[in-house]
Amino acid sequence: MERTLKNCRVLVTGGAGFIGSNLIESLLASGNKVVCLDNFSTGKRKNISGFITNPGFTLIEGDIRNYDDCARAVENTDLVFHQAALGSVPRSIKDPVSATDVNIGGFVKILFASKEAGVQRFIYAASSSTYGDHPDLPKVEDKIGKPLSPYAITKYADELFASVFSVNYGIEVIGLRYFNVFGRRQDPDGAYAAVIPKFVSVLMRHEAPVINGDGSHSRDFTYVDSVIRANHLAALVKDSAALNQVYNVAHGERTTLKRLFEMIREYAGKYDPEVLKIQPVYGPERAGDIPHSQASVEKAGKLLGYTPACTVSEGLKHAVEWFRVNL
Ligand SMILES: NC(=O)c1ccc[n+]([C@@H]2O[C@H](COP(=O)([O-])OP(=O)(O)OC[C@H]3O[C@@H](n4cnc5c(N)ncnc54)[C@H](O)[C@@H]3O)[C@@H](O)[C@H]2O)c1
Repeated sequence: MERTLKNCRVLVTGGAGFIGSNLIESLLASGNKVVCLDNFSTGKRKNISGFITNPGFTLIEGDIRNYDDCARAVENTDLVFHQAALGSVPRSIKDPVSATDVNIGGFVKILFASKEAGVQRFIYAASSSTYGDHPDLPKVEDKIGKPLSPYAITKYADELFASVFSVNYGIEVIGLRYFNVFGRRQDPDGAYAAVIPKFVSVLMRHEAPVINGDGSHSRDFTYVDSVIRANHLAALVKDSAALNQVYNVAHGERTTLKRLFEMIREYAGKYDPEVLKIQPVYGPERAGDIPHSQASVEKAGKLLGYTPACTVSEGLKHAVEWFRVNL
């Protein structure tokens, strides 16, 4: 049976976003009272429309860069799930100032407000980008390279701040380094859309998706339910050795972009045979991209009891089905 956090008062920052809204849905389903702090910069009102009338749900429209908003959001909170950030490596290369303001400045404000309010545990979204140029595969938590983007720097700085807060103030912190998350409610539109929702929506329009590079680059694509599971486990873990740590959250599988395209085409083609005729277009590689990424999920398995919620291919089938119905 799934281990879920129950009957707590929690804050989810970035709760109108892709991962945050899925996390809120599961937290409400297991009987928690949830406050969502979001400024809707990349999040969407439609992502939270399903629970806006739920008596266990409170929306605070505010900004993690504003300390008063943070202080209001953490009042009477047992636990914080910090998801708010400006995501995307290319966005951070275009606008490093905003990425730093939100992802580091905002992070320290919400972390300090949490500590001031007596929040017991602060679980935050870290990132696989922290591995930077380290060549080893699979990635293990304590071997990181040089960051390759402003985004990667911000996510690593967050880990350092969280650790220092834990040592100096005793607040329990857990960082979850997500690897290429995908699934329902992920935004398919805009310049910074992630590859899976973009491929699905382009294929559904009978257009050819662009693969950056020759298709041989690979990633550890992680279904959103695995990320939700990891957050619940991080909230529940009691062993003190598991606290003040960072964990890879992934499937531990590596899929090339070419294979990813083929799987999505096959699953989308079941509903629309026209899609099966579409071939991808190969474009230039993106700045700041590493060729391969794959996580070891051994540490999360050992200390949190984590296993992925499904295989990549099962997750892709769910995601394609969701996008088919909802796009
Ligand atoms: N999606 C991935 O593959 C992935 C991978 C690694 C890490 N992460 C991290 O996971 C977290 C969630 O990512 P996501 O994919 O759901 O992104 P998202 O853009 O869908 O969600 C981020 C949310 O944060 C909100 N937000 C941004 N700036 C804010 C601010 N200043 N104040 C208040 N709210 C603000 C946005 O409006 C949005 O609702 C982020 O911290 C991201 O860096 C995501």
